Amino acid sequence: MKPFKIRNIDIDPPLILSPMAGVTDYTFRRLIKRRGGVGLVVSEFISVEGLSRGNPKSKRQMRFDEEERPYAVQIFGGQPERMVIGAEMAEEVGADILDVNCGCPAPKVVKNGGGSGLLKDPERLETILKDIKKAITIPLTLKVRTGFSESTINVVDIAKMAEQCGVEHIQVHGRTRDQGYKGLANWELIRQVKEAVSIPVSGNGDVTTIEYGLKKWREAGTDGILIGRGAMQNPWIFRQFADALAGREPYTPDLEEKKSVLLEFFEMCRGEMPELVALGKMKQLAGQFTKGLVGGAQFRQTLYHSHSADEILDNITIYFETLKQSDTFGDGVVEAEGSEESVMSCDAFTTAGALGATSGAHQT
Ligand SMILES: Cc1cc2nc3c(=O)[nH]c(=O)nc-3n(C[C@H](O)[C@H](O)[C@H](O)COP(=O)(O)O)c2cc1C
Repeated sequence: MKPFKIRNIDIDPPLILSPMAGVTDYTFRRLIKRRGGVGLVVSEFISVEGLSRGNPKSKRQMRFDEEERPYAVQIFGGQPERMVIGAEMAEEVGADILDVNCGCPAPKVVKNGGGSGLLKDPERLETILKDIKKAITIPLTLKVRTGFSESTINVVDIAKMAEQCGVEHIQVHGRTRDQGYKGLANWELIRQVKEAVSIPVSGNGDVTTIEYGLKKWREAGTDGILIGRGAMQNPWIFRQFADALAGREPYTPDLEEKKSVLLEFFEMCRGEMPELVALGKMKQLAGQFTKGLVGGAQFRQTLYHSHSADEILDNITIYFETLKQSDTFGDGVVEAEGSEESVMSCDAFTTAGALGATSGAHQT
């Protein structure tokens, strides 16, 4: 696995922070990018309805910092004219890459012809891709699921068509729309896409360990790998993956560093959003991040019941100090994999927020 290019943009290392509505906002992306090992970051999906109607929240979702480059903006929608407007706006704000969402399973998005709804209407997708291609000069990429349902898997045909339209990178999440987040991603289909096209292809689905990522990459032979939920549980996963690729011992953060990453995130949130929203964000990250830590479940309970920033900060300090001194916390239990409800999907952000669209509607 080696760096690859999307036109003249180096994706180095070939590891991508997968877009997640309500998660991969300006704050989270920088937190992850600063840990190292990330070759590309992508915005949350941004509604072109919101953008073309001048919704300030949608425009705000495009915001990024120079330290994030290369940076891709992902848009979603079903109307070609509005998709073109959204794509032009992304180019105007200085994004390096424009990505089209062809995977969101949320009923509201699909009903309007966007997200994975486009898998059912390849002609509409073709029009969208061709029209966008004419309107922008930055590279156009596509993030796609394997098909709408198990009986209509069409990702290979979609990928070939996209290549013909001038798409310069395809990212495949190896699940169908109907699968949602159930079961495991099908990396065999991802391999088939890689074989079928000559543009770069990146694979995505369930990479939470270096071993699994390397195994799936070897099987599918993709150019890159996207990691989504794994980054919330382990913000160092990209650095560790990059270490493994370079033949180095994967980096292991100590307790002090784990504590400081939570504090850094919280400080960034407090500086960039209202306190109540920052609290929600903090609880969201801490909820994932402390999976697998001793007493993590009990620590999360204390966080969920914290009502102010100071309370949260105190609880973080107490938790890590206790761990450092006695190597245990609360009941001392380390919960098993998957023992807790997994993080929500883009669904949650289409009801009140994303269609309109807020940067993380925080209805976690
Ligand atoms: C909370 C959440 C929000 C998501 N939002 C988006 C999105 O806005 N755009 C997108 O293309 N995929 C979105 N996804 C899908 C992820 O990018 C990724 O394809 C999927 O989670 C599988 O990768 P993972 O197993 O590494 O998480 C979302 C997933 C989650 C869990």
